[in-house]
Amino acid sequence: MKITTARLLLRPLCMQDAPAIQKYFPHWEIVRQLSAKAITWPYPPDGAQKFLRNIALPAMKRGEDWYVGITRKDDPAGEVIGVVHLRRDTASGNRGIWLAADFQGKGYMQEAVTALNDYAFDVLGFDKLIIKNAAENTASRKLKQKTAARHIATVPASHYLDGCPAQDIWELTATEWRSFRALAAGRPLQAAPSPLCRPQPVPLPLWSRASLGDAFAGALSASAQMAARCAPCPAFMPRPV
Ligand SMILES: CC(C)(COP(=O)(O)OP(=O)(O)OC[C@H]1O[C@@H](n2cnc3c(N)ncnc32)[C@H](O)[C@@H]1OP(=O)(O)O)[C@@H](O)C(=O)NCCC(=O)NCCS
Repeated sequence: MKITTARLLLRPLCMQDAPAIQKYFPHWEIVRQLSAKAITWPYPPDGAQKFLRNIALPAMKRGEDWYVGITRKDDPAGEVIGVVHLRRDTASGNRGIWLAADFQGKGYMQEAVTALNDYAFDVLGFDKLIIKNAAENTASRKLKQKTAARHIATVPASHYLDGCPAQDIWELTATEWRSFRALAAGRPLQAAPSPLCRPQPVPLPLWSRASLGDAFAGALSASAQMAARCAPCPAFMPRPV
């Protein structure tokens, strides 16, 4: 598997990626909103090697997990700067993501996730993705909103390394994703929005109002807010960006 996007080349992780992962992954800002169940912290000096040898490569061989390395097309060394992990198991969500700090905020992860949502639905045959994040993870939350995911719940959590007490759960069906992509490409939608699908304001969880304030609420686009409350209406999707 090899996927190219405007700026990225996405391909399965291999043992040679250990030095890059060891360099970019074990930083508090990267791991703090990830699961303590999955990450040994402090990260040992051979953490990346062990992760690749004992976890990622065997899981890919079994055919239930896809650990996709993100590299930049303009980097001749092809160094991995982040990872998207797709998995069949929904217990901890069908997708995990991280991107090296130096490369965040440039839209790289949105680019990678867009290509890998296509891959998950069109090639791997997922009918939906359940995706999760620490409820205080603004970047991850925004990324989901920008890639058509629908917030379905916020539940208590106790597994995040930084102690975040809540977890957001999101869903994205293949139908929703294809509608979103069709809108982005200017293609006609296959089904009209149901008249029963009435846009309603989205009440943010109380904790997020308190910790993030109204600025966060303002960051939710009106269309994303409507889509978030339109579960029965797959054609009513946020405007692509
Ligand atoms: C989540 C993560 C992968 C996002 O990667 P990224 O490449 O920075 O994301 P993008 O540049 O595609 O940005 C997507 C949106 O998130 C926003 N964003 C990125 N970093 C942000 C931050 N630190 N705070 C708030 N918003 C942020 C972007 O600005 C963009 O929204 P906008 O266009 O409305 O501004 C990255 O922050 C990361 O690796 N975090 C540490 C690991 C982690 O928490 N993974 C998620 C586990 S669920």
